[in-house]
Amino acid sequence: MPSRQSVVQLRGAAPVVLPSLLLCDFGNLERDVRRLEDAGVRGLHLDVMDGHFVPNLTYGMPLVEAIRKLTDLPLDVHLMISDPAQYASQFCDAGADGLTIHIEAAPDPAPILQQIQDLGAAAGLAFNPNTPVEAIEPYLPLCDIVLVMSVMPGFGGQAFNAVAIEKLKYLSDRIGPEQSLEVDGGIALPTIASCAGAGAHLFVVGSAIFGTSDYAVSVSQLEERARTAFTTTGR
Ligand code: DX5
Ligand code: ZN
Repeated sequence: MPSRQSVVQLRGAAPVVLPSLLLCDFGNLERDVRRLEDAGVRGLHLDVMDGHFVPNLTYGMPLVEAIRKLTDLPLDVHLMISDPAQYASQFCDAGADGLTIHIEAAPDPAPILQQIQDLGAAAGLAFNPNTPVEAIEPYLPLCDIVLVMSVMPGFGGQAFNAVAIEKLKYLSDRIGPEQSLEVDGGIALPTIASCAGAGAHLFVVGSAIFGTSDYAVSVSQLEERARTAFTTTGR
């Protein structure tokens, strides 16, 4: 049974770094999940790609199910797939607590966001760097999470696109106290503070964790950097 609340409550714990299980060691998945738990992470971000909506393929329901069995951490599942409505309930059954769909894949996301919440999960809406913020604005009331992409989805290790900053600022004035702003792509020590200062609560991080030897140090440095930006900007 998905736990919408486990994802919604992350906002109260912000800044929260969510490691993206895209660049992890899939041959040692359990070891990586334990290392992340030991590092004190508050949730995991799972990147599902279909080779159609994005030019890369990752994994589907069976791996989400496998990770569900390994951990009680909230699972924030990012669907980069062409037909999210077709698979929403299967991903919730597999163990997603939050399910984020792309507006570019679902031009009318309202019924799917509603469906996700009816399934008991947190509903997220993502949009790409080249999609204007106005495209998602009408659907804000239906979102538990708004995911601002700071790279074109598909691959880890890309450079942060600063177009995300203005979008975060704009959205941060328009969301309610129960809604989270999430940013994904190119988040690392040099970029996390400006995102935190612009109002992000949840920070998806791939290479800046999995490309380092000590996950605990990397996660705490990133959260510390974001926390400092929160304090300076009064967020
Ligand atoms: C991009 C994915 C991300 C990404 C994060 O398509 O949604 O979650 O891989 O990785 P880094 O932090 O390396 O950009
Ligand atoms: Zn992602």
